[in-house]
Amino acid sequence: MLPTTIPLHIVSSRLYWISISLTHFRLMLLRRVVFPRHVVAPYARAYAARASPKSLPRRQHAPSAARQESASSTTGQTSSGAPRRAWLITGTFGVGLGFYTLQLYLAASKPCHNPHIADLAQQKDVAVRYDYTASSFDSDVGLSELLMGINGIRKKLAQKCHGEVLEVSCGTGRNLGYYSLNSASGIVSTLSFNDLSSQMIDVCRNKWETIYGFKARSGQLRHDLKVRFMTGSALEPMPLSPNGKKYDTIFQTMGLCSTAAPLQLLENIIAHLDTSKPDSRILLLEHGRSYMPWMNNILDESAEKHAELHGCWFNRDIGQLVQEAAEKTGMEIVGERRHHFGTTWVFELKPSDELVKRTSSSLGAPSTSVQTASNESTTWLNRIGWK
Ligand SMILES: C[S@@+](CC[C@H](N)C(=O)[O-])C[C@H]1O[C@@H](n2cnc3c(N)ncnc32)[C@H](O)[C@@H]1O
Repeated sequence: MLPTTIPLHIVSSRLYWISISLTHFRLMLLRRVVFPRHVVAPYARAYAARASPKSLPRRQHAPSAARQESASSTTGQTSSGAPRRAWLITGTFGVGLGFYTLQLYLAASKPCHNPHIADLAQQKDVAVRYDYTASSFDSDVGLSELLMGINGIRKKLAQKCHGEVLEVSCGTGRNLGYYSLNSASGIVSTLSFNDLSSQMIDVCRNKWETIYGFKARSGQLRHDLKVRFMTGSALEPMPLSPNGKKYDTIFQTMGLCSTAAPLQLLENIIAHLDTSKPDSRILLLEHGRSYMPWMNNILDESAEKHAELHGCWFNRDIGQLVQEAAEKTGMEIVGERRHHFGTTWVFELKPSDELVKRTSSSLGAPSTSVQTASNESTTWLNRIGWK
């Protein structure tokens, strides 16, 4: 998150540094503001006296000189403490900000070791990485996504999912708490989760049980809701919905960065959408290239290392990929938003009027790709034990 998405390892190193600064700052606050010397001194003396009662006098027997020293230090604190504190706080922030800006500047101005690293042909398949990172994925991306407001975007998109819903590249199920599933108002009738990694799917399934297990058993979810978890590639034909239909909504978050063939993945999921309905939707939340050259320089420079570590290429031109897929398939981009210096992309696609007409008129005579999907679905369903 992963998880503008400033590169995760950059974000984590920055967060690490910021957390260290904050810890120092908090300690300083504790020492100077919450527990200043004149407040702490009597307790410290009492503690010392209890620790070695023979060598040190107890608090009630403390010599008056000590009391005087305590009083004078109190006076000193009030007269010069406030400006000193203000300087310290400003200084800490100033140094921190300066250090951060310098690091960013150095990273942004460094020439990229491979200027063509954004070309898909140069990017090797790293999807297998998720088999190893599944158990720590949520904790790895959780904080940065929270700070960047990604969860809010997930929620907005998930709330738009309706009817027969397929979430591809679902990972650990970071969206599953946001769907509209309630017994009274739920607009999702079936929910299918897909991911290439069985480890990620396992986390997703467990999360489902934790969040919705009780609700489902106690009738708080739609009684006709069908949910399933499928391990497999979204580059291949996928099963129809549990009701035997094509999907009304196909949702993907942070998936185009992780597959070896993002354009093919887009075309494939569009082939699984019910394009005979004008309200069918493809919803995407992705991360990739920025509109700022300096940010792209940082992304390109660290892309290879990041991909090997986290299984995701964060320097792809998502806009170009979605545009190309839309043109090839007859989809229309009805919503496009970018956040975080343009590195976070949100897309909403619907079938164009022409595509709706074409699909509707050919209903009853399914296209080759649909037939493939249906045939393959049997294999898939068998493989995952879904009948
Ligand atoms: C960066 S994670 C995102 C997970 C989740 N969607 C999220 O928003 O947190 C990318 C996911 O895509 C999955 N993935 C990669 N290639 C895939 C493919 N061809 N088909 C299905 N899932 C794939 C990976 O296994 C991984 O779980």
